[in-house]
Amino acid sequence: MKPIHIGILGLGTVGGGTFTVLKRNGEEIARRAGRKIVVKMVADKDLKKVRELVGNDAIITDNAHEVTCNPDIDIVVELIGGQTIAKELILEAIAHGKHVVTANKALLANHGTEIFAAARAKGVIVAFEAAVAGGIPIIKALREGLTANRITWIAGIINGTANFILSEMREKGLAFNEVLAQAQKLGYAEADPTYDIEGIDAAHKITLMSAIAFGIPVQFDKVYTEGITKLTSEDIQYAEELGYRIKLLGITKRTEKGIELRVHPTLIPIKRLIANVEGVMNAVVVKGDAVGATLYYGAGAGAEPTASSVIADLVDVARMQTADPMHRVPTLSFQPDLLSDTPMLSMDDVETSYYLRMQVVDKPGVMAEITRILADNHISISAMIQKEASDDSDKVSIIMLTHTTLERSINAAIKGIESLPVVTNQVFRIRIEELNK
Ligand code: NDP
Ligand code: HSE
Repeated sequence: MKPIHIGILGLGTVGGGTFTVLKRNGEEIARRAGRKIVVKMVADKDLKKVRELVGNDAIITDNAHEVTCNPDIDIVVELIGGQTIAKELILEAIAHGKHVVTANKALLANHGTEIFAAARAKGVIVAFEAAVAGGIPIIKALREGLTANRITWIAGIINGTANFILSEMREKGLAFNEVLAQAQKLGYAEADPTYDIEGIDAAHKITLMSAIAFGIPVQFDKVYTEGITKLTSEDIQYAEELGYRIKLLGITKRTEKGIELRVHPTLIPIKRLIANVEGVMNAVVVKGDAVGATLYYGAGAGAEPTASSVIADLVDVARMQTADPMHRVPTLSFQPDLLSDTPMLSMDDVETSYYLRMQVVDKPGVMAEITRILADNHISISAMIQKEASDDSDKVSIIMLTHTTLERSINAAIKGIESLPVVTNQVFRIRIEELNK
């Protein structure tokens, strides 16, 4: 069979990894794809860098439009990132009848509906395995492997940089900024690292998984996002004392009232496998009604792990290219005209349990005042510890775990507690997920 010709846009961390792995394993990949995958063109702003890696193996250009408009290119591999030039190039490639493989979760979370519709109209494929959890084939699992199931929930450690930071802070007692700099040096962090530490990158990924799991449109504007920048090493330590580990989780759940979609630091019981996923590694738990809970683990970032997913998509496209579009695996797993309009829940309607930390004046009656406010809001306490201040002050920290309650109720309780004169700082809240149902 005639080789399939690809053009890579952006030869950075992932683009470089993709070129290297294709070159190293090309023969074996061709045996799987049924045809050779040939890198015909590479576009990057830095031609010298490209020449060093690519040599004379491909046509090199600093004008990516030459790739998207070239009739000899079958698949455009967009690895530039961002939502401006990347979007323009992807839509241009689609308009020229080319299939697209991308790792660009930010673009797809924000503009997926438009891009998928353009691809559908042209009968081409947009594949994005590398956009979620790097090297873990989670899109394939959700879209194909779990297709018999009614998915109930997904919970994932889906940002390697944030997980690396939390792990290093806990294990080595390193400061936040020091660890972030290391993650950037290792190529894990996004161009704008606030995407990693503020939970935005995880929000992009959980938005895409939610759409595939529940057969709903991609709705990034509905995701609740909270990052890890306000976490202290004390919280990490107190959580451990209570039998929990703090992870930045992306969570999406189907409930009777609608779909939850959220990213925030989360206490998970240490005994869960996912609580023990450390460093840049990612893990996703998917609960299906037939299969139960399944766990997918692997490198969530980095050149070759991400290239592994990019190339898996290339092989899929090479295999499916000649299939009638109606008989290909649908982009969001469900047939595009059968997506559902199940409502997304606001955070107020989310039900979970909570870790609360507050600083109070150490005097009689304080605890009674706090527990009265919790009781008035129908919130029940499941555990509590008190920590003396390290200085000689009359203040103590109180850490409480609650049973399941509505976010609306905990917000009201926190407001009430903060208004007490004996409470001397803002109440700090972290949500808890037991991940056992
Ligand atoms: P890099 O910044 O390492 O690579 C992007 C490359 O594109 C750079 O070489 C950049 O050149 C080049 N570039 C920028 N603008 C243009 C342009 N107009 N035309 C041609 N080339 C251009 O990014 P990554 O490889 O890390 O990320 C690429 C994509 O993969 C992003 O969408 C990212 O979110 C995603 N991703 C990344 C992962 C990772 O581990 N790094 C994991 C999973 C997904 P210059 O440097 O000169 O600007
Ligand atoms: N910045 C991302 C992370 C890269 O740290 O997980 C992979 O998407």
